[in-house]
Amino acid sequence: MTFPAKFLWGAATSAYQIEGRAPGDGLGSSVWDEFCARPGRVQGGESGAVACDHYRRFAADVQLMRDLGLQAYRFSVAWPRVLPAGRGAVNSAGLAFYDRLVDALLAARIEPWLTLFHWDYPLALYREGGWLHPDSPRWFADYTRVVVDRLSDRVRHWITLNEPQCFIGLGHQTGLHAPGDKLPLDRTLLAAHHVLLAHGLAVQTIRAHAKLPPVVGWSPTGEVPLPATEAPEDVGAAREVYWHVAPDSVWNMAWWLGPAVLGAYPEQGLRAYGAAVPRFTDAEMRTISQPLDFLGLNIYHGYACRRSGAGAVEIVPPTPGHAQTHNHWRVAPAALRWGPVFAHERCGLPVVITENGMAAHDSVSLDGAVHDPQRIDFLARYLGQLRQAVADGVPVLGYFAWSLLDNFEWAEGYRFRFGLVHVDFATQRRLPKDSARWYRECIRSNGASLPLPDPAPAGSADLVRS
Ligand code: FCB
Repeated sequence: MTFPAKFLWGAATSAYQIEGRAPGDGLGSSVWDEFCARPGRVQGGESGAVACDHYRRFAADVQLMRDLGLQAYRFSVAWPRVLPAGRGAVNSAGLAFYDRLVDALLAARIEPWLTLFHWDYPLALYREGGWLHPDSPRWFADYTRVVVDRLSDRVRHWITLNEPQCFIGLGHQTGLHAPGDKLPLDRTLLAAHHVLLAHGLAVQTIRAHAKLPPVVGWSPTGEVPLPATEAPEDVGAAREVYWHVAPDSVWNMAWWLGPAVLGAYPEQGLRAYGAAVPRFTDAEMRTISQPLDFLGLNIYHGYACRRSGAGAVEIVPPTPGHAQTHNHWRVAPAALRWGPVFAHERCGLPVVITENGMAAHDSVSLDGAVHDPQRIDFLARYLGQLRQAVADGVPVLGYFAWSLLDNFEWAEGYRFRFGLVHVDFATQRRLPKDSARWYRECIRSNGASLPLPDPAPAGSADLVRS
């Protein structure tokens, strides 16, 4: 049981979390700049103003990636760097940065995977209505066109949107992330509908204008429901939860994957949201539902489910003291098996893990190194389960560790370190952690260096649609 021969090993970052804002070079503001400036919204009053100063240090960071043996690097383009007002005038200095980054990656034989939107929405467009504006899908498509025209002679891999559940759920419904709105459900679902249309139009734009044959996907996320046992009833219970839409929240897979991949909003979701569902047309559904080359999944955690005697689904509470990460996410390696299995069996698309990793209490030890055995253990366990998904029959094309560098963790500021490489935010010194060397060996051996897998559990093969 191994990873496929062409399996791609990478690491991921996003623009606002690492780039920093200096020198501005014509950069426009994003909703995150404005959100960070509001008292009390971000831990410690921190912001992405400096972050990892990657905008100035990208060449050295690409060298770090090369030392790590990365085969691919997932980064995002900052929309307001390219179009300071979100639309209209193009900032050539901003575009030139991504030009240089892509060239440096290719020179290092690292495949660029470009995410068009990882949450740093142009503030000017937000002030015009943002994702609630009926023109917002078109604004995103126009921005996509600018990036495609400039970079698609070298970039093949495209991700339209990162985690719509987060920037709509946390950003527009609960207000914990930028822009900090607390919209009622009907407005939240209208914004979500525009996001879905933006995704569809962007896919069309990429396909129509890319110079190299494009490989296109997107990256939703979610905590994965896991079967408490291998019994088919429990697997069925977890699958049911995976596709369930709760009446008051957009934290689900079905509302996003339904339109984008299966061509329709899910029936159960339509019932759950009821009158809050926006009006939409068949033509819009066709726009949203574009053929994709892969499904990106960002997977960090999970929780167990089982079928009760009476046939209901029960959530199984964790054992007291269950392992958790620094930011209190439950360690649940099987999420990297069942997430891909459940998504693939219904969507039929190849899967790429576009984010996975953990925050640990990392610091520089007296011996000058950063020892992060928990991260090594976490990655080994999760990757073992991803290998199990491959054995179950899921075509998994690649894996991106989150993250290359410690960085700005949104509303949590800098307190949670997710990097394979430690960053001293006072000096910007980079120091590969023990896990970086471990991951390098994992990449070099195409996963053969991982600990021996658990024996393949019975009954797993029939979970995957052939
Ligand atoms: C994901 C985000 C990413 C990072 C990780 C820890 O939800 O996509 O930017 O914050 O979580």
